[in-house]
Parts: sequence; C-alpha cells; structure tokens
Amino acid sequence: MKVTVVGAGNVGASCAEYIAIKRIASEVILLDIKEGLAEGKALDLSQTSTTLGFNTKIIGVTNDYSKTSNSDVVVITSGIPRKPGMTREELIGINAGIVKDVSSNILNYSPNTTIVVVSNPMDTMTYLTLKITGLPKNKVIGMGGALDSSRFKTYLSKSINKPSSDIHAMVIGGHGDTTMIPLVRLASYNGLPISEFLNNEEMDKVSKETMVGGASLTKLLGTSAWYAPGASVAYLVDSILNNHKKLIPCSVLLDGEYGQRDICIGVPCIIGSKGVESIVELKLNNDELNLFNQSSNSVRSMNESLKL
Ligand code: NAI
Ligand code: 2OP
Repeated sequence: MKVTVVGAGNVGASCAEYIAIKRIASEVILLDIKEGLAEGKALDLSQTSTTLGFNTKIIGVTNDYSKTSNSDVVVITSGIPRKPGMTREELIGINAGIVKDVSSNILNYSPNTTIVVVSNPMDTMTYLTLKITGLPKNKVIGMGGALDSSRFKTYLSKSINKPSSDIHAMVIGGHGDTTMIPLVRLASYNGLPISEFLNNEEMDKVSKETMVGGASLTKLLGTSAWYAPGASVAYLVDSILNNHKKLIPCSVLLDGEYGQRDICIGVPCIIGSKGVESIVELKLNNDELNLFNQSSNSVRSMNESLKL
C-alpha cells in the first residue's frame, strides 16, 4: 500500500514516521516544495528502520508528483500557519492556493486516491479539496476530530486520574477553538459515565482545555503541534488502508445529516477502504444541536471567503 504525504514539515514528517513505525503502509512518498527537505527527512527516517524494525520504503521528493503515482491515500499537510497581523482571509487565500495546486497535481497521478486534508483552516480546506477535485464525497476526509478527541481523552484521563486507554470520548463540530464540541455527556470511563467522576464545573474545565488544546500548544512551542496531529493522521490512514472500519470523527461533506448540507464539518464516521463508509447520526440533545448549528454557521462563513 502506498501513501503520499504532501508537506514534509512538522506534521507531515511525524505522520510519515508513525506510518512506518506502525507498519501501516509499504511505501511512503514525502513531497515538499522546499528543495531537499523531503529528501532529507525521508533519508533520516529510513535510517531508523533497522533500529525500530520496519521495512516501509520512505522516499522524499521535491515537487515531483510523478513519484506519487497510484497512491492509495494522499495526506495534504502543505500550508502555512497564521502569522501575526495576518487576517484569517489572507491565510485562507494562501493555503487555498496551495491546496488547490497540490490536489490537482495529485489527481493527475492518482485519480482514484482517497485524500486526507490536514492543512488549516481544515474544514474549509476539506470543502475546497472536494469541490476542486470533483472526487466522490467518501474520498475526501478532513482530519481534526481524531486529534481533538485524543486531546479530550487525555484531559479527561488526567482529571479523573485514570489510564487514558480506559477513556472513551469524542469531539465533533469544526476544528477550531470556538467551533469544536467535546461531547461530555457521552464521555465514559470504561463504560461508566464520566459524570460519575466529575462535577459540572470540572467537566466544563476539561471541555475548555480541550477547545484551546491546539492554541495552548502553539503558545508553548511557538508553532503548532505535530506529534499528536501526526499520530492522528496515521490512525486515520491505518483505518482506510487496512479497512478497520473504525469510528472516527472526521470532517466530511454533509448532505442532510445533522440538518446540514453543502458543508464539511466533524461528525462521527466509519472509516474503511472506501474512505467514509458511513456517517453515524447521533441523537444530539437540544444544547448539543444548537452548538452544532452555531459551529456549522461559523464554518460556512469561513467557506464563503473561498469565493468558489
Ligand atoms: P510546517 O510549516 O512545518 O510544514 C508545512 C510544509 O508544507 C513546509 O515544509 C512547506 O515547505 C510545505 N509546503 C508549502 N507549500 C507547499 C506546496 N505548494 N507543495 C508542497 N509543500 C508545500 O507546518 P506544520 O506544522 O506541518 O503544519 C501543516 C499544516 O497543518 C498547517 O496548515 C497547520 O495549521 C495544519 N495543522 C492541522 C492540524 C489538524 O488537526 N487539522 C493539526 C496540526 C497542524
Ligand atoms: C492543532 O489543533 C493548530 O490545528 C492545529 O494543533
């Protein structure tokens, strides 16, 4: 199985590393526009194979899309983060240009691939990728909910002081500080409601920490995070390539589900070899549904700056 990762920066390289270490694919192509960067990272990563015990071939290329041909999955991480003084529309303008260019190049060599979009603003970039590639809606998947849910579970585990592997929880909605919706009501400690262990105030605190999870890391690191994002992408890619049919919140095109149409936003999905195998329609309560509608409005207004 062949995976291409476009953008050999922090997230791209980290995701390539997890794909190799966990033996998710037999071949990873790392592609970047910056001369030598992808080649260098690929070479460095390859030299961990004997110590870490994997056989995945990792090849780096500078903008040579011919090497990406017949990829089963393509991950798009190319883009820039928001800089001080830059408006959101300016960021969207730059990243939209990059994502448009990358996805048409990808399609020339892998017309049947499944695309996983990571570049921010991710829900809007997923929508753009879907529109400009014309791929069927099951083949364009935005990664955000997997990461936000992993942060949510980690904060929950810390606050009840129990192993994170025993925590089950999900974040839906947009991938943004004010748009994501941690589903506290449904969170559990190995099947027991989290409300048995935390009071309302504590649950609120965990939700807030989750929502600014990305921003807190950016403040600490001076750039956005990459380990958890890279691992979340690898988890998603694994479910596609190996047809695990995992239930993962992903940004996908809605066509009436959750009362929304013509928008990509995070909802629970079954992810397998077809990409999005199905969308799981949760019965949200009124508060959750209101939050979902607000989140959709906000993502929709961001999509408008694409001027498609
Ligand atoms: P980075 O700056 O480390 O890497 C981006 C790479 O993209 C750079 O190496 C750059 O040379 C490359 N690039 C730029 N234009 C390109 C083009 N036209 N073709 C090929 N490569 C190109 O950034 P990082 O930290 O890896 O983040 C990447 C993106 O992912 C950002 O937009 C960031 O906001 C987003 N992100 C999204 C997350 C999510 O959950 N959806 C989580 C973390 C980051
Ligand atoms: C994150 O959540 C900024 O989307 C990036 O870490």
